[in-house]
Amino acid sequence: MITMEHVTKRFAADGPASVDDLSLVVPEGTTTALIGPSGCGKTTTMRMINRLIDPTEGKIIVNDEDVTKVDPVELRRHIGYVIQQVGLFPHMTIAQNIAAVPKLLGWTEAKIKSRTEELLDLVGLDPSEMLKRYPRQLSGGQRQRIGVARALAADPPVLLMDEPFGAIDPIARTRLQDEFRQILRRVRKTVVLVTHDLDEAIRLGDRIAIMKSGKIVQYDTPDAVLSHPADAFVENFVGIDRAIKRLGLFTVNDAMNTTTPRPGASTVAPTSSLREALALMVAANSDVLAVVDESGAVKGQLTRDAIFAV
Ligand SMILES: Nc1ncnc2c1ncn2[C@@H]1O[C@H](COP(=O)(O)OP(=O)(O)O)[C@@H](O)[C@H]1O
Ligand SMILES: [Mg+2]
Repeated sequence: MITMEHVTKRFAADGPASVDDLSLVVPEGTTTALIGPSGCGKTTTMRMINRLIDPTEGKIIVNDEDVTKVDPVELRRHIGYVIQQVGLFPHMTIAQNIAAVPKLLGWTEAKIKSRTEELLDLVGLDPSEMLKRYPRQLSGGQRQRIGVARALAADPPVLLMDEPFGAIDPIARTRLQDEFRQILRRVRKTVVLVTHDLDEAIRLGDRIAIMKSGKIVQYDTPDAVLSHPADAFVENFVGIDRAIKRLGLFTVNDAMNTTTPRPGASTVAPTSSLREALALMVAANSDVLAVVDESGAVKGQLTRDAIFAV
């Protein structure tokens, strides 16, 4: 769906390459997280996809079309864009903000109204309360939800997100990330997400592209990045606790067996992550947990060896 081939961006003709001979393929319906230190070229890479920035060299194909051959305004109507500062129009109500692109596309009032209500529902906000409010009357988390709703309004196949949850407190951020994952299960989109938060990249990315000085140093699944960092830079970037972060990618279900646990063993839910399970083992000073589902039924046990073997 999105292909970048040998793309380079120099902001000054004789200046350094902010993006340096970068190639990237984002398959349809998947999410790629671009991550790396500040200034490594994440935002520049993303903004070339919707032509907010033009590449100096190379080719960018979105949905079988060379983006340099499409009218940029037209292009952006088919690419949703969410940024950290959200960029809601302050003098427009929430309803008007969400309706901005559908209006440009000439949708009827009735269609816009039902779409707006559907989108608010999708992002977990109550239409009757929200539609007439102005952006300043919303919390940071609510504004970010509106930003996502607005980007999805005309149902674009591609969504670009630049640090979308960056300004939100950690608890609300985790919740928004989980909800966004649910949303993506319902509306299949091809997503490029820029973040400097490794946990966010792991949680949301089907693939993670780790960038350094305008180049991608590793492009892989979260599991592969955490288990096999390509070089010392990636290893240092993902951190000393990468093995523990990796356990967050698996659930108890993935590693349990159906042996009846000994009475009195500490319990864990089958849907918990192995990271949580290991933390429970440490807290209980035990190398086996009883797996108990939400109805209270004992499903089996989880051993420390099984966690280590994942
Ligand atoms: N409009 C611009 N003019 C000149 N240099 C820029 C411009 N935008 C970004 N840069 C430079 O390009 C590099 C990459 O920036 P950016 O893509 O914003 O990084 P990131 O999003 O990874 O933090 C940085 O060195 C930055 O200073
Ligand atoms: Mg940036």
